[in-house]
Amino acid sequence: MNKAIDYYSFITIEKQMMEKADLSELSFREVLAQHRSSTGEPQTKEIVRLALEKLKASGKEVRIYDSSKHLLGLAVDGIIINDGKPLIFEKNIEKALSGSYAYTVTEDHLLYFATPIQDQYYENAYVYEFVEDISYFYAIMDQIRYILFAGAGGFIVLITLSSLWIAKSTTKPIKLLLGAVQSFSRQEFRRVHLNRKDELGMLADGLDSMGRQLHDYIQYQKQFVSNVSHELKTPLAAIRGFSQYLYEGKNEDKELQKIYAHLLQESDRLTRLINELLLLSRFDKAGSNELEVEKTEMNELIQQVAASMGAKAKDKGIEIMFREAEPEPEDKLMTRVHANVNPMLMSHAIANLVDNAIKYSGSPSLIELKLTHTPSEVVIRIRDQGIGIAGDELERVQERFYRAKNASTASGSGLGLSICKEIVERFNGYIDMESQIGEGTTVTIVLPRA
Ligand SMILES: Nc1ncnc2c1ncn2[C@@H]1O[C@H](COP(=O)(O)OP(=O)(O)OP(=O)(O)O)[C@@H](O)[C@H]1O
Ligand SMILES: [Mg+2]
Repeated sequence: MNKAIDYYSFITIEKQMMEKADLSELSFREVLAQHRSSTGEPQTKEIVRLALEKLKASGKEVRIYDSSKHLLGLAVDGIIINDGKPLIFEKNIEKALSGSYAYTVTEDHLLYFATPIQDQYYENAYVYEFVEDISYFYAIMDQIRYILFAGAGGFIVLITLSSLWIAKSTTKPIKLLLGAVQSFSRQEFRRVHLNRKDELGMLADGLDSMGRQLHDYIQYQKQFVSNVSHELKTPLAAIRGFSQYLYEGKNEDKELQKIYAHLLQESDRLTRLINELLLLSRFDKAGSNELEVEKTEMNELIQQVAASMGAKAKDKGIEIMFREAEPEPEDKLMTRVHANVNPMLMSHAIANLVDNAIKYSGSPSLIELKLTHTPSEVVIRIRDQGIGIAGDELERVQERFYRAKNASTASGSGLGLSICKEIVERFNGYIDMESQIGEGTTVTIVLPRA
């Protein structure tokens, strides 16, 4: 950059000096012509005197040389002088005598410019040299350089700041859009809006309308399931009643009796499914504050569930073992652990998990129910020694209607776990599952302690 500035500025000053040299040459030639016309033969001394007289003010110093490089005359600051030993750049004089101009700039910013003067035979008879102080030019150059570098610095700062601003103003909305997409994938639909008219703004509007449509669609789907379940409830109750009547009535035909038993069993299964669907749609509609919540002692609650499921387990050759919470160190008799839940729903959730443990275990085996606690949490653990769930399915079994590949050993609709999840989340808790195929499953419910 510095070199480029030097190069272009010297081209300018060179041009200026050439113009000046041309003008001086003209004046010099005028003297040559005048002198020749009056006297015929040229008289060097007189010519030099006249030329100096005419050109003495055209530079800080003005010099005239003859074709043998001898200094013929000299003027300093406009005054013709006859002595003194000036600094001479012989190479420049030689070059001028060969027909072209030459110059040198000294460290103290003096420019020595030599140019040839031709006589009437077009021979380079004289060299005219002037010395120019060009320190003003260096001062201007320094200023230009300063302005340029300061400008470039400012420009770089401006570019950096504006690119930072651009980066920030694009990453912020992208983060917002990403957040919206992530919450959509969790089925949490919220409005997306960006106050801008570019592509990002359009993308936000597109996402917003997609979110609204998805939300409406899911609501419609849930409403549909809820309505259908309701509609099915009454006819199903009638079917179940009649099947029971037929099954319990006197019947000699063994085959028919089997069919009636099957009818009753299947209508029971359907009733359970409808009840579960209705429970789920109740969750979809109701806000959590509509549920009755009370401070519930969890040891008791689990004990009751274990007792109610005991018979079913025993029928399958499975034992249920309940381990109460450890007593508090400061109060050795107290093992009471409370959580704010709806006891009926919480029992339903735990019973559902125990039901799974029974359903997906062979016999003989053990189901372990264990209650522990921390100062802030109540932890209920249901561990079985059953068939287990494959790792890639573990995440999906809590989805509605999802049944794992190994579930064909038992009947079910795939709704149980999703209901448990809904219930536990209603009480600000969560469910965690661990499982190993062939070894068993552990389901953990964590609730805030009351
Ligand atoms: N303790 C368990 N051991 C092995 N697999 C299980 C266990 N609990 C759940 N699963 C798997 O998770 C799937 C979903 O369970 P979920 O309770 O939701 O449905 P289901 O038991 O099949 O039907 P439902 O409970 O509605 O009668 C089951 O189909 C089964 O594949
Ligand atoms: Mg189940």
